[in-house]
Amino acid sequence: MKMLVALLLLLALCNANKVTVEESDGQCDYNLILEPRPHSVSILEFGAVGDGKSLNTLAFQNAIFYLKSFADKGGAQLYVPPGRWLTGSFNLTSHLTLFLEKGAIILASQDPSHWDVVEPLPSYGRGIELPGRRYRSLINGYMLHDVVITGDNGTIDGQGSIWWEWFNSHNLKYSRPHLVEFVTSENIVVSNLTFLNAPAYNIHPVYCSNVHIQNLSVYASPESPYTVGIVPDSSNNVCVEDCNIAMGHDAIALKSGWDEYGIAYGRPTTDIHIRKVHLQSSSGSTIAFGSEMSGGISNVLVQKVHLYNSLNGVEFRTTKGRGGYISEIFISDVYLQNIHMAFGASSLSGTHPDDNFDPNALPILDQITLQDIIGENITIAGNFTGIQESPLTNICLSNVSLSINSASSTFWSCSYVHGFSKLVSPEPCPELESSYSSSSTCFSLVNSYGRASAL
Ligand SMILES: *[C@@H]1O[C@H](CO)[C@@H](O)[C@H](O)[C@H]1NC(C)=O
Ligand SMILES: *[C@@H]1O[C@H](CO)[C@@H](O)[C@H](O)[C@H]1NC(C)=O
Ligand SMILES: *[C@@H]1O[C@H](CO)[C@@H](O)[C@H](O)[C@H]1NC(C)=O
Ligand SMILES: *[C@@H]1O[C@H](CO)[C@@H](O)[C@H](O)[C@H]1NC(C)=O
Ligand SMILES: *[C@@H]1O[C@H](CO)[C@@H](O)[C@H](O)[C@H]1NC(C)=O
Ligand SMILES: *[C@@H]1O[C@H](CO)[C@@H](O)[C@H](O)[C@H]1NC(C)=O
Repeated sequence: MKMLVALLLLLALCNANKVTVEESDGQCDYNLILEPRPHSVSILEFGAVGDGKSLNTLAFQNAIFYLKSFADKGGAQLYVPPGRWLTGSFNLTSHLTLFLEKGAIILASQDPSHWDVVEPLPSYGRGIELPGRRYRSLINGYMLHDVVITGDNGTIDGQGSIWWEWFNSHNLKYSRPHLVEFVTSENIVVSNLTFLNAPAYNIHPVYCSNVHIQNLSVYASPESPYTVGIVPDSSNNVCVEDCNIAMGHDAIALKSGWDEYGIAYGRPTTDIHIRKVHLQSSSGSTIAFGSEMSGGISNVLVQKVHLYNSLNGVEFRTTKGRGGYISEIFISDVYLQNIHMAFGASSLSGTHPDDNFDPNALPILDQITLQDIIGENITIAGNFTGIQESPLTNICLSNVSLSINSASSTFWSCSYVHGFSKLVSPEPCPELESSYSSSSTCFSLVNSYGRASAL
């Protein structure tokens, strides 16, 4: 019960509709106290062996099946002691805390027969990498609520190298699995852990509400193909804070479905708060929107972020056929260091799931504000490329100071974009030079998160 109260409290704090922010500048700012569950069992009681060789899938499945019976008794904790716990994919249950002790490492099996193959997500219509079905993630939640995955810096190691090789050599049978996926779930916390070497994504909440991701270290090799850190997808009320993420591809990517499938499913990603994160991306973007955004992405607040040693900083990607929108995005207090392209927005970016997409489904990019930004050693300040049929609108830059390196030939590149700027250096392209005073449509935040208003 205490657990539930603590969880409700934190989710209330995370949700601007339920709380007025008085002195702090963000909703993720709170002292999180998670009371222990009234019942706890160790994975050892289910015959698990932490030698890094024995397969423990059944131990995890049996333990979690047993813990289901505590759902109406305040829930229960599954304790994972120090050791190397090899496993294939398994499912979680509601009112569960999965706790990884210091030195506990959950190791994902590299044998694909230990991973089920499941139907694609309805908002994607197919696996994201290959047509057809996809591998189930290592740790799964389906239609759950009140679930915590935490620990004393225990580790979830995806041992992804084998999947990266199959991906690169075109030997995958199905789209690669992720480490943690929650589908149609709510009131989820993932905290105090290290994630290593995911086959593809690390944490994928899809069709979820009230997800809090805090204090994680998330790493994959810089060469790992299309590995992504955290992917809020067709989900609302997601907070990501105090995380260090370094990925082969995007560190954080916000998505909401793919072309005709995403449009038909119609569930947006909205009310997202990202703060106090250190992000690195070798071949993608530290913070990406899209390119799959057909259900829409709106009301996103990004604050106090450090983006470094990366190809791209913040990037908005979409293409004709997506439909949907990316709007009401507010990004402030950003420090960029050693980044090739600081900001990008392109309506010519991304592929289609099949030939049935509607080329007349034009994506909208509107009301994007970038404010209080400092950058060092940047090669391209910004590339804003809209399309004639649907230009980028209300792109607002305020107090942006980027120091451009000598490798640069173009500071800003703009087409089919309209926006406003003040105090921007280097001087932006003419399309963004309307003065702020004449604008009434720059997206801003007054008083608290979630309350958009004109500047
Ligand atoms: C993370 O760990 C710290 C230190 O043990 C603890 O105070 C905090 O409550 C934990 N946070 C979560 C969300 O589990
Ligand atoms: C895991 O959950 C899925 C539903 O998402 C279900 O189809 C599958 O049978 C479950 N597997 C086990 C081992 O319980
Ligand atoms: C972050 O997690 C580590 C363990 O992983 C813990 O020692 C530390 O206190 C946590 N910090 C916060 C702010 O929760
Ligand atoms: C957690 O462990 C990882 C490596 O296993 C380390 O890089 C990280 O600094 C640790 N985090 C904390 C908060 O102790
Ligand atoms: C500047 O950033 C680039 C990456 O865009 C990096 O390769 C280079 O080493 C950085 N230069 C310095 C002096 O840090
Ligand atoms: C800007 O982006 C567009 C579309 O993504 C691309 O075609 C163009 O080459 C880019 N311009 C620069 C200067 O990088």
